[in-house]
Amino acid sequence: MGFAYTKLALLSVIIFISIFPQTYISHDIESSFLQCFSSGLENSNSTTKVILTQNSSSYTPLLQSSIRNNRFLESSVPKPYLIVIPNDLFQIQKTIICSKKQGLEIRVRSGGHDYEGLSYVSNVPFLMIDLRNLRSITIDIKEENAWVQAGATLGELYYAIANKSNLHGFPAGSCPTVGVGGHFSGGGFGTIFRKYGLATDNIIDAQIIDVNGNILNREMMGEDLFWAIRGGGGSSFGVITAWKVKLVRVPLIVTIFDIPNRLDQNATTLFMKWQIIANKLPSELFLHSVLGIAANSSSDSGKTVTVSFTGLYLGKSDDLLPLMQNNFEELGLQRDNCTEMSWIQSVLYLTGHSINGSLEVLLQRNTTLTSFKAKSDYVTDPIPMSGLEGLWNLILEEDRPTLIMTPYGGRMSEISETETPFPHRNGIIYGIQYLVDWEKNEETPKHVDWIRRLYAYMTPYVSKGPRAAYLNYRDLDLGVNRENTSYEEAKSWGVKYFKSNFERLAQVKDEVDPTNFFRDEQSILPLSRETSLVDKDNA
Ligand SMILES: Cc1cc2nc3c(=O)[nH]c(=O)nc-3n(C[C@H](O)[C@H](O)[C@H](O)COP(=O)(O)OP(=O)(O)OC[C@H]3O[C@@H](n4cnc5c(N)ncnc54)[C@H](O)[C@@H]3O)c2cc1C
Ligand SMILES: *[C@@H]1O[C@H](CO)[C@@H](O)[C@H](O)[C@H]1NC(C)=O
Ligand SMILES: *[C@@H]1O[C@H](CO)[C@@H](O)[C@H](O)[C@H]1NC(C)=O
Ligand SMILES: *[C@@H]1O[C@H](CO)[C@@H](O)[C@H](O)[C@H]1NC(C)=O
Ligand SMILES: *[C@@H]1O[C@H](CO)[C@@H](O)[C@H](O)[C@H]1NC(C)=O
Ligand SMILES: *[C@@H]1O[C@H](CO)[C@@H](O)[C@H](O)[C@H]1NC(C)=O
Ligand SMILES: *[C@@H]1O[C@H](CO)[C@@H](O)[C@H](O)[C@H]1NC(C)=O
Ligand SMILES: *[C@@H]1O[C@H](CO)[C@@H](O)[C@H](O)[C@H]1NC(C)=O
Ligand SMILES: *[C@@H]1O[C@H](CO)[C@@H](O)[C@H](O)[C@H]1NC(C)=O
Ligand SMILES: *[C@@H]1O[C@H](CO)[C@@H](O)[C@H](O)[C@H]1NC(C)=O
Repeated sequence: MGFAYTKLALLSVIIFISIFPQTYISHDIESSFLQCFSSGLENSNSTTKVILTQNSSSYTPLLQSSIRNNRFLESSVPKPYLIVIPNDLFQIQKTIICSKKQGLEIRVRSGGHDYEGLSYVSNVPFLMIDLRNLRSITIDIKEENAWVQAGATLGELYYAIANKSNLHGFPAGSCPTVGVGGHFSGGGFGTIFRKYGLATDNIIDAQIIDVNGNILNREMMGEDLFWAIRGGGGSSFGVITAWKVKLVRVPLIVTIFDIPNRLDQNATTLFMKWQIIANKLPSELFLHSVLGIAANSSSDSGKTVTVSFTGLYLGKSDDLLPLMQNNFEELGLQRDNCTEMSWIQSVLYLTGHSINGSLEVLLQRNTTLTSFKAKSDYVTDPIPMSGLEGLWNLILEEDRPTLIMTPYGGRMSEISETETPFPHRNGIIYGIQYLVDWEKNEETPKHVDWIRRLYAYMTPYVSKGPRAAYLNYRDLDLGVNRENTSYEEAKSWGVKYFKSNFERLAQVKDEVDPTNFFRDEQSILPLSRETSLVDKDNA
């Protein structure tokens, strides 16, 4: 009995050590970090609410509260050692300085929508800064601009604008829970971007805390860094704490329509036509197509591909109908299919809320969750009929596939590729987002395999040299930074997101963060990393 007990005890000690080696490291780092953080802070009572250790009862609810992909709720997913929830900029400055001292990496989370969870997942020891408490929004209708703190959501911004004016809006994404911290720094498009450009095209100032803990505005950070954070992603350059944006003028009435078509309703022919006109329509009309599956009405067991055309027109249906008649008669749009509403109601509509309901729903941060994987592409020549046939077959293999085809053109074609790091401008007909979601994480490999096969299939039909991708639809299949990744290696996939802007991003990185403190699995490496590796080899 005694012997058995001792052996068991010994065994559990060994198991404990081998399973939890990080726990020991983390306690050291934790206490040193806490000591560093609270030194000079007289109100150390607030530290307990600002910093959550893994022991804290609020740690798990807080971590999970803005995880948007169930894949990353699994217990095996690595978690931050500490969570910092700053109430002011000073606490961010302290966090940067103390993390550097302890050799802890940091990850910054605004809305938590990163497709690969990079704002809260990493295999290295790290601390997460969650900006939820820095979310104030100040609207200046007379000057037609706004300061928005990075922890605010798109819904909060849209709500704040609508609260002050029914003639103003902002061109960003459709999902109200997306955070402005990640969304604006990666581009950010929505249903009025053909008229006004990306969210990032409408940023006029910003506030960032750099690697030395300095708080910088546009004038202080200089035009290179200001350029880099408008599309190059925030996570490589510092902690962005606020944006100043230009509001745009929207008409009192906009018109929405939604026309689904199955294959037996000429969906293929309609899609062929759409590919030709989508990016040439007037910029007031956004007409995207969403591919999915539906039950085949003439067969109980069968499924069919559906192509749904959803439009938002900045104007009344009286003007929209002749425009559609002239450009896309085949769709058969009729007055009965159109709903006129205000711009803010269109935001509700596109989120699936009742357009006559309260705007307060835009302030909700909770959403229903599934597991998902997504990828992106850009199309510069219409996909031929032969290509679509194979695509339909692949779509029919999945349970819950969605392909969102977003038309470019309009204002997007007028902005040069180098104006911001976001390079997908003139010449793009449409962007594709491939998406699959599922309920059970045991099924993850099956669905990830499907989306990779789909991506491989699409190779001949999409942009080449490089095969372009959208940063905000982050995809770690494209490449991942490792400790020894060279500039050239990182470039091989970095150009997919940034094309020729990649090199300038690496130069800016070199200027503002040469030791590569701000980093993650897909961050920009300093340009000099190439040189230093070469030097080492030569020595
Ligand atoms: C449901 C859903 C709908 C979406 N709809 C759209 C859409 O309509 N249009 C569109 O363009 N995109 C859309 N996206 C993609 C979205 O734009 C990106 O996921 C975006 O990066 C999310 O920003 P976030 O702040 O919510 O995410 P986070 O996960 O918090 O951050 C994303 C990245 O930015 C970094 N980051 C965040 N905040 C800061 C900061 N303050 N300073 C420095 N770095 C920071 C993070 O470290 C991370 O690398 C959607 C995503 C989802 C999940
Ligand atoms: C402790 O926290 C409370 C509430 O957050 C605050 O009002 C108070 O000033 C803090 N105490 C000190 C000493 O700062
Ligand atoms: C966390 O809890 C463990 C045991 O429950 C304890 O030994 C450790 O000191 C705690 N860590 C912190 C930072 O409070
Ligand atoms: C604006 O917000 C205030 C308080 O949040 C609210 O009372 C008011 O009804 C809102 N006004 C509009 C026009 O939405
Ligand atoms: C469009 O309107 C026509 C005429 O009322 C109607 O027959 C048709 O079903 C509508 N289409 C959709 C998708 O609602
Ligand atoms: C629907 O199912 C029927 C019977 O199986 C089949 O003949 C038809 O082609 C299917 N239609 C579509 C659009 O897939
Ligand atoms: C499909 O298109 C053809 C040719 O444009 C047309 O004659 C036919 O009525 C359409 N079918 C449906 C179901 O819309
Ligand atoms: C919204 O309200 C308008 C005007 O009261 C009404 O005509 C319309 O049917 C309502 N729409 C919905 C979806 O409830
Ligand atoms: C979010 O929370 C609100 C209030 O608790 C609730 O009414 C709503 O249904 C929730 N939304 C989702 C998508 O879970
Ligand atoms: C980089 O490190 C990985 C392991 O982390 C190793 O497999 C790879 O060969 C290394 N590459 C170079 C170029 O050293």
